[in-house]
Amino acid sequence: MARKIIIDTDPGQDDAVAILLALASPAELEVLGIVAVAGNVGLEHNATNARKVVELAGRPDIPVYAGCSRPMRRHLVTAEHVHGPTGLDGPDLPEPSIALQPQHGVDYIIDTIMAAEPGTITLCTLGPLTNIGMALVKQPAIAERIAEIVMMGGAYFEVGNITPAAEFNIYVDPEAADVVMRSGVPITILPLDVTHQIQSTPERLAAIRGLGNKSGKAVYDMLTFSETFDLAKYGWSGAPLHDPTVIAYLLQPELFEGRHCNVVIETASELTIGMTVVDYWHVTGRVRNATYLRNGNADGFFKLLTERLARLP
Ligand code: RIB
Ligand code: CA
Repeated sequence: MARKIIIDTDPGQDDAVAILLALASPAELEVLGIVAVAGNVGLEHNATNARKVVELAGRPDIPVYAGCSRPMRRHLVTAEHVHGPTGLDGPDLPEPSIALQPQHGVDYIIDTIMAAEPGTITLCTLGPLTNIGMALVKQPAIAERIAEIVMMGGAYFEVGNITPAAEFNIYVDPEAADVVMRSGVPITILPLDVTHQIQSTPERLAAIRGLGNKSGKAVYDMLTFSETFDLAKYGWSGAPLHDPTVIAYLLQPELFEGRHCNVVIETASELTIGMTVVDYWHVTGRVRNATYLRNGNADGFFKLLTERLARLP
């Protein structure tokens, strides 16, 4: 039985690869819908990009919704410096032919979870947590009905990427992240500690390009665009690949390792706002509210990703 998932996303080249990986895995994952959120770039571009990606995968049947256009409290911070002005610069993808769904993405999340059997829907979050935080505030009853939230976000041993203390997804909307971390929903976190180990080296990108299909070429063009900023910043042999680790975790959790511990979001200090304060060594008595993953098997990840991308058009 395929696991039912809703993907909440701010595509974003790495988000796009995550969506493709999910759509290439129908035996394991049933993508119920995709909800765009403001993050990497503005909401309109992210919603357009999500539709471009489902059409690239040959899945125009996947409904795409627009969620929130700004964080719960703070002003929107975007990342065009990484992703380009459209948020999906690199590949030459046609304008989408499918329309956005008319329902607000937050209401779609609430209605879908409330209509489903409790514990049957997993939320995969690839961007700021605004839509999930707003859904939990608008309809708190969803908290005990969500099977799991698997999120790309946060950092602890690897420290921040948008500030010295904070990872981008959490930094953009720390209040939403705080609502999510306090919700009681089972949470699994794929932080920078993991994604910085998952590096898109030239050899790995060449293997994807060598698939010879449209999706392989598009992913190659996406990642060779978005890698520029990180290669210059970190000086590594490959840029970190963030969001597809969320989907890879659902497909092959044995690729990752971490522990159940307490994670709290800094929402007050301007110096460390958006930091994920991870009690990895259990030095406090705070409730262990998340599975915080710290290591990932990069070779195993890219083997999985490349094999699955080969299945797409
Ligand atoms: O910090 C990495 C995260 O921020 C990824 O989700 C990337 O897409 C950006 O949203
Ligand atoms: Ca993202």
